[in-house]
Amino acid sequence: MTQKITAAITAVGGYVPDYTLTNFELEKMVDTNDEWIRTRTGISERRILKGEGKATSDMAAPAVLDLCAKRGISPTDIDCMIVATVTPDMVFPATANIVCDKIGATNAWGFDLGAACSGFLFALSTGAMFIESGRYKKVVVVGADKMSAIVDYTDRNTCVIFGDGAGCVLLEPNTDGLGLQDAILKSDGTGRNYLNMKAGGSAYPASIETVTRREHFAHQEGKTVFKYAVTGMADVSAELLEKNNLTGNDIAWLVPHQANLRIIDATAQRIGLPREKVMINITRFGNTTAATIPLCLWEWQDQLKKGDNLILAAFGGGFTWGAAWVKWGC
Ligand code: UT7
Repeated sequence: MTQKITAAITAVGGYVPDYTLTNFELEKMVDTNDEWIRTRTGISERRILKGEGKATSDMAAPAVLDLCAKRGISPTDIDCMIVATVTPDMVFPATANIVCDKIGATNAWGFDLGAACSGFLFALSTGAMFIESGRYKKVVVVGADKMSAIVDYTDRNTCVIFGDGAGCVLLEPNTDGLGLQDAILKSDGTGRNYLNMKAGGSAYPASIETVTRREHFAHQEGKTVFKYAVTGMADVSAELLEKNNLTGNDIAWLVPHQANLRIIDATAQRIGLPREKVMINITRFGNTTAATIPLCLWEWQDQLKKGDNLILAAFGGGFTWGAAWVKWGC
């Protein structure tokens, strides 16, 4: 009998830029204050990628090289690269192609995946299928966003939230049952008006008018998104546990998308996990969109043990949301 192949996470990489934008610095840019930002979001500071022409691929590339070094492989060993992002270097070609070129992953094919803050979860699920099918042996899944490229630093509703960063995982075949066990992924396009970047696509191509109307920046109706996010992320996590006959006691870590500490707390509470079992780095990195979940794994990897049950959960633009159950594999 052939053994079932699962997609195990066998290495993690990450990269955050050096420049730290603090709440105090934002106080000088817009009408806000450190106390409001910390109590309403949990954020104290975020990283910003500076430099002319510096792009999402300039964070994804060092993150993937970090991963290769940890696993002791060469970029030429990578078969496939999926980059989840809403801030690609260019509309086309795909940022995955640029990352592969920058690191010398000459044997890999790749593509970008757009699912906003749920991008990493969607890409992980997609990449896992390439492994489970037996078709590929080394699939890299990246979540990377240079949110500072699309944030309006005169809009206090959004500029205090977002930051830049990149994280990634390596997926490899496993026959001991480690890796992605199950995922529930959802999307609902009726949410598109509440969180979007209106112009620059085919509906409203760039023009003097779209620039003047500031439509090339991320727009969010925070209160509405919060309402959907706080129930969406908690509900889907609870649904995943129930579907797999798991309780909070079976879970070693919750790895939540870092959009707002209040949303993270609500999700943890719903599935019965204390704060000590929740990965939280929103305080230092803010909301890095597709990068939040892999950046958590990157920071916590030394505390993870083979076989640990992890619940990854996200909610974001689209709307998109979901949860994944992973048995840690390295
Ligand atoms: O990652 C993708 C998914 N995104 C999310 O999950 C984000 C969901 N939304 C949120 O996290 C929250 O809605 C925000 C953090 C964006 C905003 O927090 P909130 O508690 O929902 O605030 P609010 O928008 O209801 O605004 C409350 C008050 C308003 O003033 P008034 O009308 O009560 O006088 C705002 O004008 O806070 C004001 N405000 C601010 N004050 C100081 C809004 N932004 C700021 C600010 N500094 N930066």
